[in-house]
Amino acid sequence: MSELKIYISRDQIAKRVAEIGAQISKDFAGEPLVLLGVLKGAAIFLSDLSRHISLDASFDFISVSSYGNAKQNSGEVKMLKDVDQSMEGKNIILVEDILDTGLTLTYLSKVLTAHKPKSLKIAALLDKKARRISDIHADYVGFEIPDEFVVGYGMDYAERYRNLPDICIVP
Ligand code: IMP
Ligand code: MG
Repeated sequence: MSELKIYISRDQIAKRVAEIGAQISKDFAGEPLVLLGVLKGAAIFLSDLSRHISLDASFDFISVSSYGNAKQNSGEVKMLKDVDQSMEGKNIILVEDILDTGLTLTYLSKVLTAHKPKSLKIAALLDKKARRISDIHADYVGFEIPDEFVVGYGMDYAERYRNLPDICIVP
């Protein structure tokens, strides 16, 4: 793992995640929330973020596949695991690791809007704006990053590196 270069350190991540949690707590003051994580990449972000949200928050997880084991997005999105609870009338924060082409979140937004939630917001730890194909934006963004492939803090390359505490660039 020595070939990996730290791009965003654990301290920078912790600080930014706390800020987003505080912002969400303020924006939804007095309201219950569902933190809906996109497996598996968003699991660590959701765990850390949730502990900075001072509201009644429940968890749910959804799983989609779009990449296989490649760096390239095939453009195809397939639902592997749907939500466990009804999303009707709920405040949903869709929690994602990276907003890249936007195809995954566009698909998920469509699926979730059909559930008739009270509100639907997107929290993405990273935003690769330059790669966007689909017209979608996140309401809460940790960091905007250039077109680099990153791993760590939940994110993988062929299922490796998710457990790295820092976000690193794969050369
Ligand atoms: P999108 O549909 O292109 O926006 O794809 C988003 C998904 O692609 C993210 O949830 C990640 O799982 C994956 N992805 C995109 N860029 C990276 C990266 O740099 N490292 C790891 N996974 C990535
Ligand atoms: Mg993902």
